[in-house]
Amino acid sequence: MNARLEGKVAIVTGAASGQGAATARALVRHGAHVMAGDIDEQGLAALSTESPNIAVMRCDVTRRADVEALVAATEEQFGGLHAMLNCAGYLGATGPLIETTEQMLNRIIDINFKGVFYGCQAAIPALQRSGGGAIVNWGSVNSLVAEPEIAAYSATKGAILMITKSVAVEYANYDIRANCLCPGGVTTPMVAGFFNDEFLADEQAQRDYQPLGLISPDEVAEVAVFLVSDESRKMTGSAVMVDAGYTAS
Ligand SMILES: NC(=O)c1ccc[n+]([C@@H]2O[C@H](COP(=O)([O-])OP(=O)(O)OC[C@H]3O[C@@H](n4cnc5c(N)ncnc54)[C@H](O)[C@@H]3O)[C@@H](O)[C@H]2O)c1
Repeated sequence: MNARLEGKVAIVTGAASGQGAATARALVRHGAHVMAGDIDEQGLAALSTESPNIAVMRCDVTRRADVEALVAATEEQFGGLHAMLNCAGYLGATGPLIETTEQMLNRIIDINFKGVFYGCQAAIPALQRSGGGAIVNWGSVNSLVAEPEIAAYSATKGAILMITKSVAVEYANYDIRANCLCPGGVTTPMVAGFFNDEFLADEQAQRDYQPLGLISPDEVAEVAVFLVSDESRKMTGSAVMVDAGYTAS
């Protein structure tokens, strides 16, 4: 067994699906114990059957008390916390900026911005108690570049990069690192509406969209493992692009 993360305890939010689920699996594969949080209890139940080293707990990241409870349960069950991976996210309805409803705007801000902020707030004291650790926040290529009709989503992803940098400069003295993982187009349920069957069958169309084509959740997960591992110990405050070249031009 690859024991790169032996002895480490990690939390993954948004772990019931897509990149969060792939990341929970990858962390366990590399030797970590994982607490998986999500609002999708069915997805969590399925994930929990995959390994005795994955515990699950319902957690709505828009509620600070839920996120604090997730951290407390992790420390109680596994004896500490070494990594917090804030992956839960919400694309919301796409459309013109001027048509974004107040309700939709609030939902996107609550999940993406406040969810990641609460995740950092709740994790930092626990990471301090463990003598340091790593935070990985899921941004997006839209942390850096805009696209039409996803203004609110992109604005929150830009903010997540700044939350990450703020943690990096404020908590380096505690050996807490924070990096912002910025994926391009990844084949998950979130973007199933964009990547229809025709697109998924057309490799050239995928390469026209992103030079190296679409990304799998597992390919993102391996980078998340690296950002948690000691191999990235001098990386903090970075926007880590896993975008198959999307932002290269
Ligand atoms: N798929 C892509 O192309 C892409 C690209 C860039 C960034 N991202 C980001 O990657 C992250 C993971 O998304 P994904 O692609 O795996 O999508 P996904 O839809 O498969 O997974 C998102 C997960 O977040 C959970 N979630 C939503 N609201 C929540 C809440 N309030 N509390 C707890 N959990 C909640 C969902 O239940 C789901 O399990 C997101 O932050 C997303 O913005 C995705």
